[in-house]
Amino acid sequence: MGEAVHPDFFMSPDGSNRESLRQQGYRFVDLIIDDILSRTTGDFGQPRPPAIAPFEIPEHGRPMVDLMAELRRTVIPHSLNLHHRGYMGHMDSVPLAITIWADALIAALNNNMLSYELAPFFTDLEQQLIHWFSQLFGLGDSAGGTLTAGGSLANLTALLAARNHTQTEASRRGVTMPQMALVSEAAHTSFDKAMNVLGLGQDHLIRIPTNPRGELQIDALHQTLDTLAGRGCIPFVIVAIAGTTVTGAIDPLAEIGAIARERGIWFHVDAAYGGAAIFSESRRSHLRGIELADSITFNPQKWLWVARTCAMVLVRHAPTLGRALDTPLPYMDEAQTNYGSLTLQGTRRTDSLKLWLALQALGQSGCRQLVEDSLMATELFCQWVQRQPQIDLICEPTLNIACLRSTDPAVSNAMLQKQWIAAGRRWLSLPLWRGDRILKAVVLHPHQQWHQP
Ligand SMILES: Cc1ncc(COP(=O)(O)O)c(C=O)c1O
Repeated sequence: MGEAVHPDFFMSPDGSNRESLRQQGYRFVDLIIDDILSRTTGDFGQPRPPAIAPFEIPEHGRPMVDLMAELRRTVIPHSLNLHHRGYMGHMDSVPLAITIWADALIAALNNNMLSYELAPFFTDLEQQLIHWFSQLFGLGDSAGGTLTAGGSLANLTALLAARNHTQTEASRRGVTMPQMALVSEAAHTSFDKAMNVLGLGQDHLIRIPTNPRGELQIDALHQTLDTLAGRGCIPFVIVAIAGTTVTGAIDPLAEIGAIARERGIWFHVDAAYGGAAIFSESRRSHLRGIELADSITFNPQKWLWVARTCAMVLVRHAPTLGRALDTPLPYMDEAQTNYGSLTLQGTRRTDSLKLWLALQALGQSGCRQLVEDSLMATELFCQWVQRQPQIDLICEPTLNIACLRSTDPAVSNAMLQKQWIAAGRRWLSLPLWRGDRILKAVVLHPHQQWHQP
């Protein structure tokens, strides 16, 4: 190799740089433990520097020690610090440690979920995981699905399957008639994106009103369906949400599922967040009706503490995905399961390894305990909120998401958010809810502390 290629870029065939590569790895382990996982107090990430100072790509490669120093000086301190015990902003968890190491393992193996021959073991593993989660949600033995890089992609895949189920020619000829999708007004914006991408148009996404907690109102759903039917229009999908993005509300899944079945409409449940309630004794009943779904989105990267990305879309009938994508892989062995023809992504990481390791390490009891603990911590957080004169709960939380507002007319929610973050106390997000910016806390940190001094 030429001079510009450092010997430690790759393992040498004679193993002579084995120790040197090991030291390189250890340096990263030290960095992760000492500079990232240990940042549980202090700031939430320093303000963004005016410009990324050393951005230019050098002519000659820089030594590893230099790069480690740069990571410590420039990158880590300016990153959002989710490890802070007061971080409760969005649906971002600190990752289970094993999933951090698993991500490195995935990179080292570098298999590709595109096809069986590129990831034989992980094709089987993903199928088994999909089967396990399908059973967990009660989808039955003919269910299938795929892991995806996030919930947006899972929702898009589900809507594609639903569209091509009703417009069977759509994958070849394109969309021949406009079709409506029904979601609640609290649904995630990924449904707007999906309607755009599928060529159906965002205006054909009909948002049904919710109650003050953010749960879809059944009367309004009936009314909308009747109005549409009067115009000769049958929606191609009804979406219910299990764990809305702002309030964590769960729609009445059983009722919505029954309506969808009765009218012969595809029923999708976006359980990206709230699907993890399946592990909670006290909240599992809220998911009653999820087993009626034709498709489900679930994100272990959110409330199951798996390092992102790790999400999935499950379908009641496995062949629907292949039919929806309708793209064989001519350069692969078509006698095998090739996930590349079942997903929107081509090349894809083997996230199954990370998810499998997390589940093996936690066991089902570990999953239950972590979820229950976060629900208990939410109750304590809400009690604390009620003792604070300057803030109030907006609604009773369903899960581990609590929404608050300032009670002092002179202090806006945005001002409170800024003050708390600047003081290094707690980091809450500021989503738009019914026309106002409110404070949202997602109680996910296993050592959460909201009353920082
Ligand atoms: C209910 C819900 N569905 C879908 C998504 C999209 O998931 P992702 O951010 O993984 O694409 C989110 C994101 O927060 C969400 O809250």
